[in-house]
Amino acid sequence: MTAMMPTTSATAELKLAATTNPFAGGLLAIDDLTGAQILEVLDLADAVKADPKAFAGALAGLSITMLFEKPSLRTRMSFEIGLTKLGAHVVYLDHSKSKLGEREAVKDYAKNLERWTDAIVARVFKNTVLQELSENAAIPVVNALCDVEHPCQALADVLTLREAYGSLDGLKVAYVGDGNNVCHSLMLACAKLGVDFTAVTPKGFEPQFGVVKAATAAAQATGASITISRSIDDVKGHHAVYTDTWVSMGQEHQSGLRGGEFTHLQVDDEVMAIASEGLSQPAVFMHCLPAHRGEEVTDDVIDSAQSLVYEQAENRMWAQNALMLKVFGKA
Ligand code: CP
Ligand code: NVA
Repeated sequence: MTAMMPTTSATAELKLAATTNPFAGGLLAIDDLTGAQILEVLDLADAVKADPKAFAGALAGLSITMLFEKPSLRTRMSFEIGLTKLGAHVVYLDHSKSKLGEREAVKDYAKNLERWTDAIVARVFKNTVLQELSENAAIPVVNALCDVEHPCQALADVLTLREAYGSLDGLKVAYVGDGNNVCHSLMLACAKLGVDFTAVTPKGFEPQFGVVKAATAAAQATGASITISRSIDDVKGHHAVYTDTWVSMGQEHQSGLRGGEFTHLQVDDEVMAIASEGLSQPAVFMHCLPAHRGEEVTDDVIDSAQSLVYEQAENRMWAQNALMLKVFGKA
């Protein structure tokens, strides 16, 4: 909670705090972090996972708002349980019945919530709503998924990949399907960590130009490559094959159009075999979940020994706990 009279200067104070703690404003996008900062989160996540009791109570006395316009299993559970493990108090504000800004201005949400709570974790339809919350709140704002990015997912994903292979060095990740929020955050995280990234999407469903541009610039600095392709053969030699739903939340009205465009990109045993060509061990399968079994992935693949999907789900909690410790300067 901020002092008695949070004003624009309180928001300015938060910006000032961000000059000494880059996490102080929260996390809106993977592109807001450097590769070194992502690694700091991953290293801390490993430490929290190895010894959760050592961090119990680290956020005692803090209250966190979870403001959700869309449904969730993993994000809600992993934040609520994870923050409770750290001693914080969490309030879930279900905004699925009406969009933020309809009953009252987004700015007024920010200015109310900062009076009671210490951070906002928000899942919203529009990235611009997150930005407005962040610009107007004198407390940190964390993106729990929006139309452009899903940064907490990407942190858990690279944590999971590093666990699976022992190191991120020399890894290649192939994302197959819709060039969506999950694809964007993963591409940026890979680029910043020096991991080669290939997105195979249908025409018209590529990742956004601005995100590809940012990822390509980051990749130039780390020596990674970013490839956007239409050919499933381009997953060859990739250590991980990642997919996500063909119809994201908020796009349900496009489901008829999207199904037909994507069927050739279903991740099945054949795709996993192509990915594994030339590797010393079979490629792993990844998915943020929820999965649409029989659509973007077959049961055989998601239930295989190479599937990391439940490890990813668990690691949401450890990665986010590390992030929140960083946000509050507690580690
Ligand atoms: N991966 C993920 O964000 O899952 P939920 O939509 O269930 O939170
Ligand atoms: N791309 C999906 C991810 C769900 C976790 C969506 O936005 O609905």
